[in-house]
Amino acid sequence: MNIPPPIGLLAELTHRCPLQCPYCSNPIELDRKSGELDTRTWKRVLSEAAALGILQVHLSGGEPTARADLAEIIAHCRLENIYTNLITSGVLLSEKGLRALYDAGLDHVQLSFQDVEVAKADRIGGYKGGHEKKLALAAEVVAIGLLLTVNAVIHRQNIGSTEAFVELAVKLGAKRIEIAHTQYYGWALANRKALMPTHQQALDAVQLLESLRRRYDGIIVIDAVVPDYYARFPKACVGGWGRRVINVSPSGKVLPCHAAETIPGLFFDNVKDKSLEAIWLHSPAFNAYRGTDWMPEPCQSCERKEIDWGGCRCQAMALTGRAENTDPACSLSAFNSQMRAIAGESAMTADSEFRYRRFDG
Ligand code: SF4
Ligand code: FES
Repeated sequence: MNIPPPIGLLAELTHRCPLQCPYCSNPIELDRKSGELDTRTWKRVLSEAAALGILQVHLSGGEPTARADLAEIIAHCRLENIYTNLITSGVLLSEKGLRALYDAGLDHVQLSFQDVEVAKADRIGGYKGGHEKKLALAAEVVAIGLLLTVNAVIHRQNIGSTEAFVELAVKLGAKRIEIAHTQYYGWALANRKALMPTHQQALDAVQLLESLRRRYDGIIVIDAVVPDYYARFPKACVGGWGRRVINVSPSGKVLPCHAAETIPGLFFDNVKDKSLEAIWLHSPAFNAYRGTDWMPEPCQSCERKEIDWGGCRCQAMALTGRAENTDPACSLSAFNSQMRAIAGESAMTADSEFRYRRFDG
């Protein structure tokens, strides 16, 4: 199989984070600080990424600004001509700290907001004072001349703020907003009853987004991750397994996607043992669901198989017990009605309490 190079690297520098969002994309079993890769290893990995053809690195976590060596890592990316995108909650970064990252060569900041009102936002993030800090940081990002994207994860408890999220992003001077409906893996799966919107709410949100795109055309780019429990076809998760992105965990495990460890039986190589190129090309975990040969029916004879690549392996695992099954978000999957029923039941529950992301689970 001809394997083109990945275009992006998600560098999960740490799982440490002062926020406790109940939909966090990190695994339930979080890596401890003592197990994190050191600066030297990250620099080597980033050089290997550049040699592999990777053009952009998403510096993520947890909260990447919890790492004292972040500016050094960014400077190394600049040296290697890699575009850097910092994905941050913003609550640990001072004006001086931001300036240091900018001076090191940072290109772009993606700042998450939990809601548009202080009390609601701080409750969802489980961090008092967070929202005000984010507002202040957004202003500094724009003032310094960095490009700003606002990230808004949408769920039942903030779906009514969708329009206000876009208004806030425009007011802050962001050039792009990502309205991402919650994807139910890890922490979000554990909080599904507290997060799932109703079918009607999801439909209304999709329509609203269309009208907001028209209203703000030329002012801000609105990207969306759709609510896939109610979709007709699944998303092309991570652009297709082993096709576009490579994910390195804080302890150095190389994953095809952030939730890949939820699939039993896959072994993940570590950058401490092998080069990124060797892992990308030869790792059995990357090759397990690469391309289309592995697909069962109905995907194998479906005309969309090179559009959505069979959807999401981790979702198939979580909801059907087999990662190679068609993503149940697909209306052609035998498990689709079951998924819709789970969505309906979860959305109608009165349970709004969160199980917050914590190290002790
Ligand atoms: Fe995609 Fe498979 Fe559904 Fe076809 S059958 S739309 S390839 S998930
Ligand atoms: Fe793992 Fe979708 S999150 S393939």
